[in-house]
Amino acid sequence: CEMGSSVEQSILVTGGAGFIGTHTVVQLLKEGFKVSIIDNLDNSVIEAVERVRELVGPDLSKKLDFTEGDLRNKGDIEKLFSKQRFDAVIHFAGLKAVGESVVNPRRYFDNNLVGTINLYETMAKYNCKMMVFSSSATVYGQPEKIPCMEDFELKAMNPYGRTKLFLEEIAKDIQRAESEWRIVLLRYFNPVGAHESGRIGEDPKGIPNNLMPYIQQVAVGRLPELNVYGTDYPTKDGSAVRDYIHVMDLADGHIAALRKLFDDPKIGCTAYNLGTGRGTSVLEMVTAFEKASGKKIPIKLCARRPGDATEVYASTEKAEKELGWKAKYGVDEMCRDQWNWANNNPWGYQKKP
Ligand code: NAD
Ligand code: WQD
Repeated sequence: CEMGSSVEQSILVTGGAGFIGTHTVVQLLKEGFKVSIIDNLDNSVIEAVERVRELVGPDLSKKLDFTEGDLRNKGDIEKLFSKQRFDAVIHFAGLKAVGESVVNPRRYFDNNLVGTINLYETMAKYNCKMMVFSSSATVYGQPEKIPCMEDFELKAMNPYGRTKLFLEEIAKDIQRAESEWRIVLLRYFNPVGAHESGRIGEDPKGIPNNLMPYIQQVAVGRLPELNVYGTDYPTKDGSAVRDYIHVMDLADGHIAALRKLFDDPKIGCTAYNLGTGRGTSVLEMVTAFEKASGKKIPIKLCARRPGDATEVYASTEKAEKELGWKAKYGVDEMCRDQWNWANNNPWGYQKKP
């Protein structure tokens, strides 16, 4: 991981064809980084990468390369490192469906843990020792206090959450053993929204698990109504509260984390929350989306979803102070941009079936 001040910095982005990856790659290219994506397209499509190219234009597009490859195959990672030098890795690649992880934990441990260990091994071999890792607010479990602070005790509620918890511990152990590693663990709260162009956005396969993609599909008529899980929580309106964060703010958070890695030799292995610090209830989110889209979102009031926390939001102080990063967008902008994406691409990256 040479600093290379006069040379252009080169970043490997695993999972760069996915939701958060595509938005981050756009910002990286605009900031002058060279970017290589490795993605096995398990939960994404090549069209998303083509749209990234279109968004940044032909000149910046030349600084982006894409490799279809799987982190579970060390050879796929090795091929990239043997061809070129990387200054740092942003590691998004992973499976993230909580429900699926409960049914098929082996798939989650294999993909998320084995994939990441292969990545560390190859990075070490080529002496690239800077990483930004996608962690999640899921590591706070059901927080006893809010806002969530980075030094809270961590616990996982399901196999997916356990992969994030284990991978945070693995990162800490690796850095403790070899002090030259610099690793930033970014704990995302609830990423939503889309690029303002409406050309890239989230496109989950099958029926969405998460709130905003579900609302979006109701708004475009793909689903009849939204199930609101839980109306008896001790919150302002009885529905659960989360810290939704615009994906473009999240993307900028990765740039801030990279700069921190390059500039701070004492960073070690450090965790930061990426959230807005504000809580929004499910019903407030529905209202905000209706306002942004002009569409009525029919709702059905349902029982709580097992395993859900009542109220989760981030303390943003540490990221503000140490990364110099703060979310710019509120819920209205998140809904505006999510609707713009939905309205222009009601079937996501696919053609209408
Ligand atoms: P995503 O599924 O859209 O993107 C992940 C990408 O990784 C996909 O393109 C997928 O094809 C790829 N991938 C998965 N396993 C791979 C492997 N073994 N080899 C190569 N590529 C592989 O998900 P996202 O929302 O962009 O999330 C990115 C990261 O952020 C994930 O690690 C996720 O766990 C984490 N995260 C996401 C959220 C969220 O709500 N979206 C919240 C917190 C943390
Ligand atoms: C938000 C709220 C639901 C769908 C998950 C993962 C977490 C992280 C982010 C990766 C909850 C309610 C939802 C619906 C609803 N991902 N809801 N009807 O559960 O906060 O976090 O995504 O790391 O690990 O667990 O997000 O969007 O699923 O739910 O009422 O159809 O919306 O009950 O209160 P969650 P979510």
